[in-house]
Amino acid sequence: MILVTGGTGLVGAQIIFDLVRNGRKVRALKRAGSELSVIKRVFHHAPELLENIEWIEGDITDLYSVAEALEGVKEVYHSAAIISFRPSEFTQMMKINAEGTANMVNISLEKEVEKFCHISSVAALGRLDQGISINESAVWKTSKSNSNYAISKYAAEREVWRGYEEGLKVVIVNPSIILGPGNLNSGSSKLFKQVWRGLKFYTEGITGVVDVRDVSACCISLMEKEIYGERFILNAENVSYKELLSNIAIGFNKKAPGILAKAWMSEIVWRLEAIRSLITNSNPLITRETSRNSRKKWNYSNEKIKKTLGVEFISMKKSVEDTCKVYLEESFKAK
Ligand SMILES: NC(=O)c1ccc[n+]([C@@H]2O[C@H](COP(=O)([O-])OP(=O)(O)OC[C@H]3O[C@@H](n4cnc5c(N)ncnc54)[C@H](OP(=O)(O)O)[C@@H]3O)[C@@H](O)[C@H]2O)c1
Repeated sequence: MILVTGGTGLVGAQIIFDLVRNGRKVRALKRAGSELSVIKRVFHHAPELLENIEWIEGDITDLYSVAEALEGVKEVYHSAAIISFRPSEFTQMMKINAEGTANMVNISLEKEVEKFCHISSVAALGRLDQGISINESAVWKTSKSNSNYAISKYAAEREVWRGYEEGLKVVIVNPSIILGPGNLNSGSSKLFKQVWRGLKFYTEGITGVVDVRDVSACCISLMEKEIYGERFILNAENVSYKELLSNIAIGFNKKAPGILAKAWMSEIVWRLEAIRSLITNSNPLITRETSRNSRKKWNYSNEKIKKTLGVEFISMKKSVEDTCKVYLEESFKAK
């Protein structure tokens, strides 16, 4: 039996789909209030396969439900996490991303799980020098550029490395921004929502992107090849925000963001957004962290994963095009 956490999210749903369609037995952990719309979308062309998932209700912050979920499990794909750039959610992120991962690791050791794949993030590598090609040997440094999310994912990864030292066979993947049709109010999918709503500005930063189908395929291949005690950056290519946002605009047949947001403008916008979100009790579209990080130029190397798996990544253009198509087919309820 394989356990997947985060199966109602962008990455976990794709991993479940790829496992189930290859006849693997999958148990998926979901919270009591979890929505199933993302996973139903992934199984859209083969809805009958949804029946093959054994759902179990629980929460990774609750040791008892983790123990119940891991009963009789041999392999784990741990994808559950909170992605947030709101300062007020730091405590919750540490609880879910770091403590939740510690629970997953500890109970996996206790239940003698045979293989454990942890979905980390390039954020957990730490913010290194701009302009260089960042690879897996990056060493975390305390820096103002590390977001609270990055700190929580770094703490999570440390728990997984501790588990490895204690005998758990782990492999870690560090994806860059993952593209694919996910929950529009969470993670990278928010970018698509912003462009759909007519985003006019772009920032001068550069970042890595990777398609969710490639993330899933790499995780499964690494587990099948029984590669342990290693981490792998999953990154198709490094692109400017301008290029990425323009491609999303093309996919939606919208006008591409044409105004470069200068540093001083972004500093005003995130402050105004903070006030708006307080008054309206809604999520800010841009925070201090997202505003500052989107002006940085990060380049991630994909040499190690290419050498190990010989993977040919789906291009950003194709990935964006496919994602926009899915949203358009649903007549894009984010309007
Ligand atoms: N998206 C990206 O660009 C990106 C990039 C690099 C790395 N990652 C990493 O990839 C992984 C998956 O991200 P994603 O994009 O799939 O995120 P997502 O769409 O927001 O999904 C997050 C998943 O985690 C689950 N979850 C959250 N808190 C939980 C808890 N306490 N107990 C059990 N499940 C919980 C959510 O369940 P509910 O449905 O109940 O909310 C959801 O299924 C995360 O570890 C993330 O850090 C993401």
